[in-house]
Amino acid sequence: MPAKLISGKEIAQQIREELKQEVEDLKTKHNVVPGLVTILVGENPASVSYVTAKQKTAHGLGFNSIQDTQPEDLSEADLLALVEKYNNDPAIHGILVQLPLPKHVNETKVLYAIDPDKDVDGFHPVNVGKLMIGEAVFLPCTPAGIQQMLIRSGVETSGAEVCVVGRSNIVGKPIANIMIQKQEGANSTVTLCHTRTKNMKEHTLRADILIVAAGVPKAVTADMVKDGAVVIDVGVNRIGKTESGKAILCGDVDFEPIKEKASMITPVPGGVGPMTITMLMLNTVKAAKLANGLL
Ligand SMILES: NC(=O)c1ccc[n+]([C@@H]2O[C@H](COP(=O)([O-])OP(=O)(O)OC[C@H]3O[C@@H](n4cnc5c(N)ncnc54)[C@H](OP(=O)(O)O)[C@@H]3O)[C@@H](O)[C@H]2O)c1
Repeated sequence: MPAKLISGKEIAQQIREELKQEVEDLKTKHNVVPGLVTILVGENPASVSYVTAKQKTAHGLGFNSIQDTQPEDLSEADLLALVEKYNNDPAIHGILVQLPLPKHVNETKVLYAIDPDKDVDGFHPVNVGKLMIGEAVFLPCTPAGIQQMLIRSGVETSGAEVCVVGRSNIVGKPIANIMIQKQEGANSTVTLCHTRTKNMKEHTLRADILIVAAGVPKAVTADMVKDGAVVIDVGVNRIGKTESGKAILCGDVDFEPIKEKASMITPVPGGVGPMTITMLMLNTVKAAKLANGLL
């Protein structure tokens, strides 16, 4: 029987409905409106579309939402000063600096300048450390979205063999760290694969839950997947354009044949993608609660 599709679109919608109610309660009971600023330096078209989508979602949820667009040649010192301004702004609870930044700016320095209590992307080393020791407040958005998809699809994670393909700081490493925690929706036994892994298939074939974030189309083929596995495809690869100029996307797994072996699988698009922005919104609500002693 073909695998059940895990729809990130539907789960994200469900979480947004819950958040809408929470935002309403924060307003009426505590006079708190979650505030999110997205800082964009330059006009990279992909970045413009990402921040526009984030702002649209934030507005839709009733946030105090600010788009701060700066010129491409903004100096590092001026960007750091801008971050500091929002660190000190009590109406702003979450600060997101859209990456990548122009080459003359040290990205790490800027991300480290964000107040960890406003770091809704979960990239600051303080938050990475808290995740490691099981005290996370802000989980990085894409991995947090993956965990929510597993939980809300009723996937048993406790004691499950999880294999993660990819070790980036934004997806692979954090999802591995999330799944090893002694917590609900985790408690898994995790293997992390990368380009130096020998006999990757030996590892992927053991996986009850296979999470692939390699950035390579068909990095995982059907012979690498155990019968009945749950497959989460994080990859977003642009492999061409339609006649009307729309990008044709594919994930990192060979979807059609794997769909015949897996018990559940995420599509691309419509899988992990829609979850990421929603988890950013969830982190901003958390940041607003944290700032007001409600967490
Ligand atoms: N849906 C979303 O919201 C979302 C969010 C973030 C990323 N993504 C997508 O997810 C994919 C991964 O993103 P990323 O930022 O994590 O990528 P990345 O920084 O390029 O990292 C890719 C990782 O995969 C490993 N890798 C590459 N090819 C491999 C192979 N054939 N076998 C085993 N490991 C392999 C690399 O190993 P080494 O470390 O050894 O080089 C690296 O650790 C991309 O397609 C990206 O567009 C989607």
